[in-house]
Amino acid sequence: MDLFEVMQKRRSVRKFLEAPLDWQDVGEVLEAGRLAPTAGNVQDVRILVVLDPDTRNKIAEACYQQYWMAKAPAHIIVGVEPQKIEQFYGKRGKELYTAHDAGAAAMSMILAAEALGLATCWVGAFEDHMLKRACGMAEDVQAHCVIPLGYADEKPREPVKFGIETIVYLGNWGNRYTNMRDLTGEFSDLSENALKKGKDIIEKAKKHLQRV
Ligand SMILES: Cc1cc2nc3c(=O)[nH]c(=O)nc-3n(C[C@H](O)[C@H](O)[C@H](O)COP(=O)(O)O)c2cc1C
Repeated sequence: MDLFEVMQKRRSVRKFLEAPLDWQDVGEVLEAGRLAPTAGNVQDVRILVVLDPDTRNKIAEACYQQYWMAKAPAHIIVGVEPQKIEQFYGKRGKELYTAHDAGAAAMSMILAAEALGLATCWVGAFEDHMLKRACGMAEDVQAHCVIPLGYADEKPREPVKFGIETIVYLGNWGNRYTNMRDLTGEFSDLSENALKKGKDIIEKAKKHLQRV
């Protein structure tokens, strides 16, 4: 699978099989986190892997009772040590770069997992203290997200996502460019697939309307 395929196929999965993970795969997912960029290469990100079922249950509880998470055979918790980055970048480092660094590591691991045929979900809703208590994190560590990791037991539908023309501005903030073909010369594979899907839906709707 190439990277674009991985990005297209990735879904947030909330139903997992109870099958154990292959440790080589887990290692590769963690390696993707290690390779992710950090501001100034300060490397403030720390990653905790939790396998113990009781702890996974407590983590799910700390995530506002998202008990579906507990079934995933592993939880990856992405945290940062803010004082590390504060030394170099002050308040901006502590309040902003920590989130960037954690997000970059999380997304790299999520994509690596997808490429390996594993399922994940980015979980950001949790009660800080409860989560820290559940997995023995120090008070001064910031937990950014939990990533349940395992084999999917569902195939979620692709959620509706805005088109490129909606989310991309050109030149000035708010300046929408409606014809991306003019801009790029040709559509990227991604846009082309999205366009084809849209056309298929319109064709189906037309046929349906002709029948009624
Ligand atoms: C910062 C962040 C926090 C999220 N927190 C949760 C969460 O607590 N629980 C959950 O089920 N999904 C959570 N999600 C997953 C989103 O709901 C999901 O990415 C979105 O619905 C789009 O679906 P997709 O991931 O399949 O593209 C979170 C995603 C992000 C980026």
